[in-house]
Amino acid sequence: MLISGRGSNLQALVDAEARDELGGEIVVVISNKSEAFGLQRAKNAGIQTYVVSKRDYPIREEHDQRIVDILKDNQVDLVVLAGYMRVLTDVFISEFENRIINVHPALLPAFKGLDAQLQALDHGVRYSGCTTHFVNLEMDDGPIILQAVVPVQASDTGEVLADRILPEEHKILVDSVRLFCNGRLKVEGRKVLIREG
Ligand code: GAR
Repeated sequence: MLISGRGSNLQALVDAEARDELGGEIVVVISNKSEAFGLQRAKNAGIQTYVVSKRDYPIREEHDQRIVDILKDNQVDLVVLAGYMRVLTDVFISEFENRIINVHPALLPAFKGLDAQLQALDHGVRYSGCTTHFVNLEMDDGPIILQAVVPVQASDTGEVLADRILPEEHKILVDSVRLFCNGRLKVEGRKVLIREG
């Protein structure tokens, strides 16, 4: 798992694994920020952690290559971006084609990029939500796996809406990882087919 901050999505996966509901094992957590609270959550769960920072690897491709090396050393099958706030380079994506899942706090393809919840609010939508998708070279663009809809209230601030979306992120991310681990996801062009369980 790759993180940059708080790590609540990481925690959701850790908890699902502890309940035997993930269908896989979280073997390594990598953060680009040494102060990310998610690193502490990983350590608490006994998961090995690494920090790969921009300061140590200023060239984007070299940064991503270092992460790829760690992932390969650990023989990972799936990479989960859980609040990882960097765009991946081709070095990374070509190594893990259709094996990188991202969670985004909006109903893609609307409101890509940073502060998606605030973007939704500022746009005046009545419903927002969250999306899991396979990662391609474009930011927040790859084939969609699952989505959850969350109504917007007139009184919402970006923060309030984000807090309402977050538990839905946790659910669809856990579900998406389980579907992947159970071999039920098949990418066909822009679409993801979900095979019967
Ligand atoms: C989550 O809301 C996630 O969807 C978002 O960052 C937050 C991380 O929270 N990711 C993006 O906006 C990526 N485009 P967490 O660290 O508590 O999981």
